[in-house]
Amino acid sequence: MILVTGASSSPGFKILARLRAEGRDVLGVYNQHPVESSVRWDLARDPVGILEQYKPDAVIHAAALGDVDKCEEDPALCHRINAVVTREIARWCARRGARLVYISTDYVFPGDRGSYKEEDPPKPINYYGLTKLLGEEAVLAAGGAVVRVAWIYGLGPGRQNFGRVVVERLSRGEEVRAVADQWGSPTLNTLIGEAAAKLLAADYSGVLHAAGPRLSRYEFALAIAEAFGLSKDLVKPIKMADLSFKAPRPRDSSLDSSRAEKMLGIPFSDIRYALAIFKREWEAGSHASGQL
Ligand SMILES: NC(=O)c1ccc[n+]([C@@H]2O[C@H](COP(=O)([O-])OP(=O)(O)OC[C@H]3O[C@@H](n4cnc5c(N)ncnc54)[C@H](OP(=O)(O)O)[C@@H]3O)[C@@H](O)[C@H]2O)c1
Repeated sequence: MILVTGASSSPGFKILARLRAEGRDVLGVYNQHPVESSVRWDLARDPVGILEQYKPDAVIHAAALGDVDKCEEDPALCHRINAVVTREIARWCARRGARLVYISTDYVFPGDRGSYKEEDPPKPINYYGLTKLLGEEAVLAAGGAVVRVAWIYGLGPGRQNFGRVVVERLSRGEEVRAVADQWGSPTLNTLIGEAAAKLLAADYSGVLHAAGPRLSRYEFALAIAEAFGLSKDLVKPIKMADLSFKAPRPRDSSLDSSRAEKMLGIPFSDIRYALAIFKREWEAGSHASGQL
């Protein structure tokens, strides 16, 4: 049996959906936002009780405190969920011989040059990144796989995301202000679901980057407008300095995902491929629900 934590998050939900579609025996874990095929469990209170109860052969750990500014405001909670819970899950998996795949982030990098490869040294510049890196270290020590993704967009449950905001605003004829001097690797949640399922089957350990191509938010918004046949003129460039956040943001945290592209056969670097899937899902009207 495969247990997926963070089943109510954008990537966790798609991982659960993908595994279910493959006919795998899978159970999700959520905390505050119920989704189908899942049970409620507060991992911060008890990180491994749910594992003891179901004794999974594999765990895909996507639960986190993913709000980067909240992590800066409440470092104790952030450390508990991202570092301590991950460490306890990793130790449990090592003891039981269960496979572990950990969903991690581009924010382990400082953002000084971008196009980071798996072997580049991490050096986080905010508390979220630091606690996710501590989680990674525990997972690697336990022989698990670390899958770094970035700038997640797509449909389904979870917090609002930039990709969805762009489609919603442009569809209403509203302007979109998008940062043109910050780069990342926008990643469709559906492709994370596919990558996690394939990685589990491949029995991979170590770090793997599984993220989209290097784009600024401005370039990404233009690509969305093009893919959806919406007005590019409504997309306006702004600067990073025009926005203020509690937590510092890396300027270029883009990831080089060529290894995953070859290994998993998923065209991560092709934004048009990902946006075509996003558009199909949008047209199918699956954006609002937590239905699998
Ligand atoms: N968002 C991005 O662009 C991005 C980029 C790179 C990597 N990631 C990674 O992707 C994963 C999901 O991120 P996200 O941004 O979508 O996060 P999110 O919106 O903050 O969702 C976090 C998930 O963790 C669950 N969770 C939090 N505290 C929990 C607790 N005490 N017990 C049980 N479950 C708990 C939440 O459940 P409830 O909602 O039910 O409470 C939710 O399913 C994380 O591992 C994150 O580091 C995200």
